[in-house]
Amino acid sequence: MIYLDNAATSWPKPPQVIQAMADFMKRGCANPGRSAHEMSRQADDAIFHTRELLAELFHIADPMRIAFMPNATYGLNMAIHGVLSNGARVVTTMMEHNSVLRPLKTLENEGRIHLELIEPDKMGRISLQSIKRAVSGSTSLVCMSLSSNVTGAIMPFADAAKYCRSKDVLFLLDASQGAGVVPIDVESMCIDILVFPGHKSLLGPQGTGGIYVREGIPLRPIIQGGTGSLSDQLTQPSVYPDALESGTLNVPGIIGLGKGVSYILDTGIEKIYLKKQQLLELLFSALENDERITVFSPPPEQNSGILSLSIEGMDSAEAGYILNKSFGIYVRNGLHCAPCAHQALGTRNSGLVRISPGYFNDESDIDLTIKAIQKIAGGMYRE
Ligand SMILES: Cc1ncc(COP(=O)(O)O)c(C=O)c1O
Repeated sequence: MIYLDNAATSWPKPPQVIQAMADFMKRGCANPGRSAHEMSRQADDAIFHTRELLAELFHIADPMRIAFMPNATYGLNMAIHGVLSNGARVVTTMMEHNSVLRPLKTLENEGRIHLELIEPDKMGRISLQSIKRAVSGSTSLVCMSLSSNVTGAIMPFADAAKYCRSKDVLFLLDASQGAGVVPIDVESMCIDILVFPGHKSLLGPQGTGGIYVREGIPLRPIIQGGTGSLSDQLTQPSVYPDALESGTLNVPGIIGLGKGVSYILDTGIEKIYLKKQQLLELLFSALENDERITVFSPPPEQNSGILSLSIEGMDSAEAGYILNKSFGIYVRNGLHCAPCAHQALGTRNSGLVRISPGYFNDESDIDLTIKAIQKIAGGMYRE
């Protein structure tokens, strides 16, 4: 079996991730921050440790500005619904995932915000110039992804964020594709709000993710409830992370995420990025000039780790099915929760086969995948 669907969720996880989660569950998994007993304090410490590791990875000065979420979607909704007020002007791109587009479209359809969607080029790239053109004095928020989950194209997010800071416009980065592979420094890059999943390239388990909100940004939490702090009050605490972290946290998951982030810090993000580039390079050089195949991803140096393609005359669902059934290769097919991106790329009808290697894949996985795709493109598996 060859797993090449790491853009959806990474697999396998480092053994330390699994071990730490199991150890915590075995030793007793109390609620953090709720009680004075030892088990609760241990859970609290473990959670704080993951916050510190994430702060180190993303260059966040105060780890308490990071709140844990069940995934990136919750973080994005928390940010979008939390910072926008009626009449706000928002700039985003056609390359966004539905976890950005759906909350924004909901607000637009309710007549509460004005939304502008920036178009990409034919490789799904968004230019800095197009962002600058779209931002005006009345823009409240620019919201964009670090890189596209359809093509892997890395966006000019750091330059866009700096431009937004210079214009006093809030900048929200969806780092779902790229966190753990592409360096992120929220301070020097001027990122106001950062949202990340824990289960993709951060190597943590599903059910984890988070949001960082720069101090001084007013954000109304969309979820209120018990935080274990200020329990005599009927209003949501304003202190972070409690303001955004209501209800029992996924403590085993957050502990696992901490081990995933430790693994990245120990290995070095540059090494991880390089490995993905090398694997992508092999895919590109074998497939991009094959006339039966169309590649929809930019070259490795502009890419966070995805090669998406279509095979002449074949629906992506059929290709994905054959790869799985006949070769034991696991890729994503269809529309990748980003309908505007597929519209811009002209792939709305047949979708795309998305190959997303992870740090634990090797060259032989890629060789076998190339051969399988070439066989499928050669017509061997057509009815
Ligand atoms: C660019 C992008 N944003 C947001 C998400 C949503 O992430 P999650 O499934 O963790 O909510 C994804 C997931 O694939 C994504 O690729």
